[in-house]
Amino acid sequence: MEQLLIALDVDTVAEARVLADRLRGVVGGFKIGSRLFTSEGPAFVEDLASRGDRVFLDLKFHDIPNTVAGAITAATRLGVWMVNVHASGGSAMMRAARAAADEEAARRSRPAPLVIAVTMLTSLDQPALTEIGLSASVAAQVERLAALTESAGLDGVVASPQEIAIVRRTCGQRFTVVTPGIRGAGEAKGDQSRTLSAADALAAGASYLVVGRPIIAAADPRAAAERIAAECRGHAS
Ligand code: C5P
Repeated sequence: MEQLLIALDVDTVAEARVLADRLRGVVGGFKIGSRLFTSEGPAFVEDLASRGDRVFLDLKFHDIPNTVAGAITAATRLGVWMVNVHASGGSAMMRAARAAADEEAARRSRPAPLVIAVTMLTSLDQPALTEIGLSASVAAQVERLAALTESAGLDGVVASPQEIAIVRRTCGQRFTVVTPGIRGAGEAKGDQSRTLSAADALAAGASYLVVGRPIIAAADPRAAAERIAAECRGHAS
């Protein structure tokens, strides 16, 4: 299922490789975040990408434009399919990210990665926004940053299940919406509080789903991924 991205939230390349080998062909790509990247570095990213896997490098860059541009250039060189930044880094930073991805991809004659932005971390609630000096509601802040992301020329945003509708309304149907927080009915939520089933998230307008523990911690990860894919197909027909 092309829209299903698996979060390889493990500590070692050995574990990540076992998961990728089991899941290849059933899922649409692999997300490598700060945990695995900080433990093991870029070689595994390049390794997956060079064998044709779609890699979403989820390092949420947030720095001055020149530094973010350098990081995005490096990610593009690794061959990632998707990479992200924090929208709160501002439009100059996001435009620099876009330009860096496009320029490095052109130099290498390959398609530019999708560059998307995190609007508000889903761990931030209203008191947390107030604490950092933002008086807007979470929804208003998500809407504002999604619009800024689109106007800076990025491809899309990461959005919680509850935010998909706001983003679709603000940025239209062609904008990429990547949604974590996917759980089946009766499944352990862990630290995710606002969840939706995979089929419901797609029906709500998500372009891609990021699923971690429900698949990677399952006794049979491939069967778990196949179950989610079947649930989505059943919903679509
Ligand atoms: O295990 P689980 O399905 O909760 O994993 C979700 C993945 O999506 C994790 O890698 C997590 O870091 C990431 N993520 C998230 N919420 C966000 C952004 C990213 O859960 N707002």
